[in-house]
Amino acid sequence: MTKYVIRGGKPLNGEVDISGAKNAAVAILPAALLVDGVCRIENIPQISDVTLILNILQELGADVRTVNRTTMEIDCSHIRNAQVPDALARKIRASYYLVGALLGRFGSAEVALPGGCDFGGRPIDQHIKGLVAMGSDVEVVGGIIQARAHGERLTGSTIYLDIVSVGATMNIMIAATLAQGTTIIENVAKEPHIVDLANFLNSMGANIMGAGTDVIKVRGVERLNGGNYSIIPDQIEAGTYMAAVTATGGDVLVKNVIPKHLECITAKLSEMGAEIDVMDDAVRVRRTTPLHRANVKTLPYPGFPTDMQPQVAACLCLAAGTSVLTEGVYDNRYRYVDEFRRMGAQIQVDGKVAVIEGVSRLTGAAVEACDLRAGAALIIAGLSAQGTTEIGKIQHIERGYEDIIGKLIRLGADIRVEEFPDEEHHATQVG
Ligand code: EPU
Repeated sequence: MTKYVIRGGKPLNGEVDISGAKNAAVAILPAALLVDGVCRIENIPQISDVTLILNILQELGADVRTVNRTTMEIDCSHIRNAQVPDALARKIRASYYLVGALLGRFGSAEVALPGGCDFGGRPIDQHIKGLVAMGSDVEVVGGIIQARAHGERLTGSTIYLDIVSVGATMNIMIAATLAQGTTIIENVAKEPHIVDLANFLNSMGANIMGAGTDVIKVRGVERLNGGNYSIIPDQIEAGTYMAAVTATGGDVLVKNVIPKHLECITAKLSEMGAEIDVMDDAVRVRRTTPLHRANVKTLPYPGFPTDMQPQVAACLCLAAGTSVLTEGVYDNRYRYVDEFRRMGAQIQVDGKVAVIEGVSRLTGAAVEACDLRAGAALIIAGLSAQGTTEIGKIQHIERGYEDIIGKLIRLGADIRVEEFPDEEHHATQVG
């Protein structure tokens, strides 16, 4: 088993470059299926979720050419197959975008129900409602989503989302791009990656207005041509490094970011005692004084992101006093709390609320990443703990953070990757 081994207690110092946004990339790459020509996509993060989607596109018959480390040319003009290999689709959440893309382009799709992090139930009823409203039959048979348009193309419709959903907003937007007529999607999500997907599609010839507001209007077009596009920087990766410096202390320049996307994270970490200077495309984060307690409630954008909840919890574990975290998006995003407790954290969870009593120090322990952001939070806890922390199940972390070990080592962290025999799994408590 591969683990990350961290010797904690060292502040972070230096500069870190933020990669392209995972949750934009995992929508934009499937959306390339709509394009009848070559898409040159830049700033693609090198993470395992992206590799998986690129593999799916290749299995479907796309030509995928690597231009350089972060740039790919994707040509989906020759694809004739709308059946996605089950084993691949089941591994990631974003495979639901393949339904909208294949249905929009070919009028049918067969994709296994998506996987992804386990936060309790993660239904896709709003996606299905949108696709049905645009004139398709959608059934889930034996764990496979089977969708078929009534006509050759989907038809525009007005869809009101009952829940603000990132995935449903983007999936419906993708499906509506080549539909006949206009689709209006109301009560949509406004995350930066929603705007990025709309910008990508528009740069290929789509006609999408309103992304970033509560209502998106998609006028269907006949065809998308190829073009060039560069993915935005990852808001959550940037926030994770900002939280890491806030927890460990030190002085780090977080580069290649859009500071506007980080506003609520900047505000909360400042409240907790970080000093943050905002520049054009970078933020400098320092922490020299003790951490302050804070209350945090996660909400859809522009609220505090649920994908930063575990990382900010790692900081609050070390802040004097009582902090209250309220999860406003998922039913159960506190599965990581038991792992934090192994490190000496004092956290009580009741439903969507976690109450954290700050402790003067965390201590190293053998822990496991139960999901992507929980894994990132354990790294933060390990970097600020006394002693050695071993983190197992790191495949969850590698789904969404490009070269996290290299980036942290360059900031002065004592972190390495080590192979352990399987039987040692969770048996050791290291101090
Ligand atoms: N929901 C429904 N019905 C639906 C869709 C969503 O009830 O049809 C509920 C969900 O159960 C959840 C809430 O609505 O309680 C919001 O879910 P949303 O659809 O916005 O999330 P998602 O599309 O499944 C994406 C990201 C997540 C991120 C959320 C919220 C991707 C691949 N995943 O998930 O990212 O937490 O939006 O911002 O884009 C992560 O990166 O660590 C991650 C989990």
